[in-house]
Amino acid sequence: MKTLLQINTSIFSAGGQSSLLADRFVTTWRAANPGGHVIVRDLARDPVPHIDAERFGAFIAKPGERTPAQQGMAAQSDALIDEIRDADEIVLGLPLYNFGLPSTLKAYFDHIARAGVTFRYTDTGPIGLMTGKKVYIFATRGGLYAGTPRDTQTPYVRDFLAFLGMRDVEFVYAEGLAINESAKQKALAEAHTSIDHLLTPELEAA
Ligand SMILES: Cc1cc2nc3c(=O)[nH]c(=O)nc-3n(C[C@H](O)[C@H](O)[C@H](O)COP(=O)(O)O)c2cc1C
Repeated sequence: MKTLLQINTSIFSAGGQSSLLADRFVTTWRAANPGGHVIVRDLARDPVPHIDAERFGAFIAKPGERTPAQQGMAAQSDALIDEIRDADEIVLGLPLYNFGLPSTLKAYFDHIARAGVTFRYTDTGPIGLMTGKKVYIFATRGGLYAGTPRDTQTPYVRDFLAFLGMRDVEFVYAEGLAINESAKQKALAEAHTSIDHLLTPELEAA
């Protein structure tokens, strides 16, 4: 039985356009994976703290060297890592906010990048330890960026996931959502069509 982890990062939680696109995909995924298990992590409803020196110290300290407060910090990071490690497939709702990631997602990334746990350094460079996963990303933007040098979000997210070993990553974009109503509806309809075709081979096999 497969497990899918859905990470919503819109400030509007389940009502965000990125979350709605992710939901549409998850509905199809459930049809293709009867008995599959879906876990939803909503970073707006349940944000993780920003990293600071004490928290980073907790992440890199040996268990016996952590203060009581740092034990809780490391446990929070460990739980987030266990959750994503246990997932076969990951769905990420990814809005563009002020040309970058939702800050909640950056804080989450800071919790799951752990040397010796999710990646390790070798003589020939870093190796990601979170391999064998498929990641689907539903990226929503008010303007138009995809495929241009102004889209700094896509390469950043790809690089981060690859660093942890997740290289099988598929993006679906809905852009121009703030241009006008007809541009928004057209972009959403195109994203829906893309989403509905993402799992066609799996649906035919189910
Ligand atoms: C705080 C904030 C900042 C935004 N910054 C940008 C931006 O830099 N570029 C852009 O194209 N759209 C921007 N937008 C528009 C969002 O990308 C767009 O509304 C998208 O649908 C948000 O996804 P969501 O509905 O899942 O939250 C911004 C929206 C908000 C709320």
